[in-house]
Amino acid sequence: MTTQCAACGAATEVLLDFGKMPLANGFLAADQFGVERFYELRLACCPSCRLAQLVEPPAPALMFNDAYPFFSSTSRRMAAHFEELAADVLRACEGSTDPFIVELGSNDGILLQHYAMRGIRHLGVEPSANVARAARARGVSSLCRFFDLQAANEIVATHGQADAIVAANVMCHIADIHSAAAGVAALLRRDGLFVFEDPYWADIVAQTAYDQIYDEHAFYFSVASVERLFGRHGLELIDVAPQAVHGGSMRYVLSHQGSRRVSARVRESLEREEASGLHRREAIEGFRARVETSRRELLSLLRRLRREGERVVGYGATSKSTTIINYCGITADLIECIVDTTPAKQGKFSPGAHIPIRGHGEFAASRPDAAVLFAWNHRAEILDKERAFRDRGGKWIVFVPSVCILQ
Ligand code: TYD
Repeated sequence: MTTQCAACGAATEVLLDFGKMPLANGFLAADQFGVERFYELRLACCPSCRLAQLVEPPAPALMFNDAYPFFSSTSRRMAAHFEELAADVLRACEGSTDPFIVELGSNDGILLQHYAMRGIRHLGVEPSANVARAARARGVSSLCRFFDLQAANEIVATHGQADAIVAANVMCHIADIHSAAAGVAALLRRDGLFVFEDPYWADIVAQTAYDQIYDEHAFYFSVASVERLFGRHGLELIDVAPQAVHGGSMRYVLSHQGSRRVSARVRESLEREEASGLHRREAIEGFRARVETSRRELLSLLRRLRREGERVVGYGATSKSTTIINYCGITADLIECIVDTTPAKQGKFSPGAHIPIRGHGEFAASRPDAAVLFAWNHRAEILDKERAFRDRGGKWIVFVPSVCILQ
């Protein structure tokens, strides 16, 4: 099946098809089971501009609204990462006496709070009203709307242009990417910097981290696709820096064309991607075969544990887990509940499979024999925090980069 690339319009082939999926963050109450929404989760990779993308992302307002259950401030590790990112961005603004920093998708203010505390001019743009309220409660200025060219023009009219624009795990969520990129170009000062991070397509493929593929992630960026996409809007990729968060991310630094020196790291990364064959059809076919193996192995491990009478829970009701659970066909008779620290998810049921979500206290209290680490990207933090589970013989099941019980 072919489709049209959302970035360059070229004919683009659908290479991965996960079938019918619920919304990844569509945690729901029992009386909502009958009205649950589903969509087709399919991924295409553009042979021309290199962009990996969802074929039909659901309408943004279905996913990002007043009931958005993802709060960024749930991980200590991520809090430290955002503090460093805030400091890096501020350092890049040192030429300005009164810097103005805008964050796209500012969520509960995990990053901007560092500017708010120091009286630095800032503005968060966040379409999900509930998380934007949490940010305001921290003293973070938050505009509750989707970011696009019109929003950018309005911000410029009210506050002036930005010295820096930052977005962490946000650009890949914006299906109307051309309007967002044009908005960045309009909002950014001539010598300003646009810094964004997203899960890196090369890491997703290399680690078979197919759970990163879900409705909210309209795009799966690589250095090559970012350079081309933003280049169409006069923004030049001037630096890249791999990040360990979210199971392998890339930080992209862009500026207006010709306004800054381009680091050699950009060319080196482009060459590395070309040499690895990341953008070739065979790479995706190999990925697809590993995804199918992963599904078979995870299901057979869970079924074996169940046959042996073991009780298994899920750890972390992540957005990502929705793809794994529904693609593998995992049901509540294999995983009795998923524990999560987020109050907005507790007492609800997982999208599609309707596995109950319980509070974190349930993990120690219910003494499961094994736990599937759905929040595998926080593995070091969680294994450290849950040492008692392993000490009493509890088994951690992981599936990235491959399915196994941690020894
Ligand atoms: P995250 O890994 O950021 O993933 P996604 O973007 O896929 O939703 O989500 C982390 C989820 O895991 C969030 O619901 C909070 C939960 N969590 C815990 O329950 N305990 C923990 O120790 C951590 C770090 C996260």
